[in-house]
Amino acid sequence: MNFPALLIEQLRRAQNLVALTGAGISAESGLSTFRDAQTGLWSKFRPEELATAEAFERDPKFVQDWYAWRRENALEAQPNAGHLALAEMEKRAPELLLVTQNVDGLHVRAGSKRMVELHGNIHRFRCFESDCPSDNFDIENGRCRSCGGHLRPDVVWFGEMLPTDALETAITAAENCDVFFSIGTSSVVYPAADLWRRAKDNGATVIEINKDPTPLTPLADYSFLGKAGEILPALVDQIWIHQTKRAN
Ligand code: APR
Repeated sequence: MNFPALLIEQLRRAQNLVALTGAGISAESGLSTFRDAQTGLWSKFRPEELATAEAFERDPKFVQDWYAWRRENALEAQPNAGHLALAEMEKRAPELLLVTQNVDGLHVRAGSKRMVELHGNIHRFRCFESDCPSDNFDIENGRCRSCGGHLRPDVVWFGEMLPTDALETAITAAENCDVFFSIGTSSVVYPAADLWRRAKDNGATVIEINKDPTPLTPLADYSFLGKAGEILPALVDQIWIHQTKRAN
């Protein structure tokens, strides 16, 4: 795969990079996205029945079981070449902040260190009723031993606020980066879908890597339509690895 020479130059000169990822980067690890027709989770399940506090109040066990099923899938999955390429980019680029909407934990398992999880992490729990400290959780039975309440996954549900620190870190990084990647996300869920605009308004080069066109496609400086697990390794190779080899 060949990339425009200007893009190669811009990426080689870049000092501060931000990469926003969505469910698409985990698709090649066998995990469903949310909105892909037929295969997306929201084509099979109704988010309002599973990913809201009201749904949990109505039927905690039903929601806990669904997240247990997703947690199992995430644990069985392996990071793919796209996750690994971003971990490599972190090692080779001057500064890269990875901002993920994914709750599957695959970026951490791929070796990414400098990252924020905007929508939480499915492998962590919270006490639903009283937000008790997590040292007294009965995870197997989905109960908080401190108050007897239910344990919910530590993820952001529809209608809930994002974790303040993570969001502020992501906004500050987007407003100070010189390159912003949007990878494997449909760019329709806010506030994550607004980060590219903050970067653009600050003069950053915006690069989209996505299987299908999104609202960002006509607005990005570069949009590569295809699989993240194919495009990202090729990009990292051409920008950083090839250059090193050529220099030696
Ligand atoms: N490589 C790159 N992109 C891909 C791949 C792939 N292999 N497979 C699918 N995609 C793209 C799809 O074309 C789609 O545009 O990934 C995108 C996934 O979009 P969504 O399913 O909407 O997922 P995401 O953008 O992460 O959703 C945002 O919505 O449901 C909530 O909290 C949930 O974090 C999630 C948020």
